[in-house]
Amino acid sequence: MSSFLIVAIDGGAASGKSSTSRALSERFNFLHVDTGSYYRAITAELLRRSLRVDQIDAVKAAIPSLHFGTQVDGRAARMEIGGRVVPEAEIRGPEVTAAVSHFAAIPEVRAALLAYQRGQADVARTHGFRGLVMEGRDIGSIIFPNADLRFYLHADVEARARRRELEGRADAVAERDRMDATRKTAPLVLASGAIDIDSTYLNLEQVVDKIAGLIAAKLG
Ligand code: C5P
Repeated sequence: MSSFLIVAIDGGAASGKSSTSRALSERFNFLHVDTGSYYRAITAELLRRSLRVDQIDAVKAAIPSLHFGTQVDGRAARMEIGGRVVPEAEIRGPEVTAAVSHFAAIPEVRAALLAYQRGQADVARTHGFRGLVMEGRDIGSIIFPNADLRFYLHADVEARARRRELEGRADAVAERDRMDATRKTAPLVLASGAIDIDSTYLNLEQVVDKIAGLIAAKLG
């Protein structure tokens, strides 16, 4: 039994992490943290400053000036950069989607986000949430290796690419996975001890129910 729970959900692009995490946050009154949106917000800001992925030194030099904050919007945590939440339309756009995995592979970008992401547990506690559900690529392996529950969502790559197509979003799912899984720092990986869920033939409700049963058992 635990009074505050941390749940980590990792997986490849379009694996259903966001819909699952959002549903769980509603069911259990957890703060939902989508760390992909953080990498996207940083990417949008760096692109806005006309920085390119190959200008590594300039990107590193820009990092201290990003000044992260958090706005809690319902049960979702949104990253502020310099006091501004980067709008959803901007972070989900094709330019950011095409560039994000390149910026996310830069160790200094990841290092800048490490303490900030861990600090979201305190944000959740301060706002009276019963727990935190954090989704990403390295949550169960690097950010919260001691989370109360850690999951890895699998789905075959064609099914995932189809999901994005149906949403009308340009997204090279397989290519992003390749970059995310092969980078040197904090690659996308099934963390040892994480619970592996193949969602290829499951609908959202079935995935949520599977995870919710385990959360309910932990909450007692
Ligand atoms: O989750 P989403 O697909 O929006 O994430 C966008 C990108 O952010 C990923 O393709 C990956 O490059 C990066 N990312 C990451 N580590 C995380 C979350 C996202 O590297 N924890």
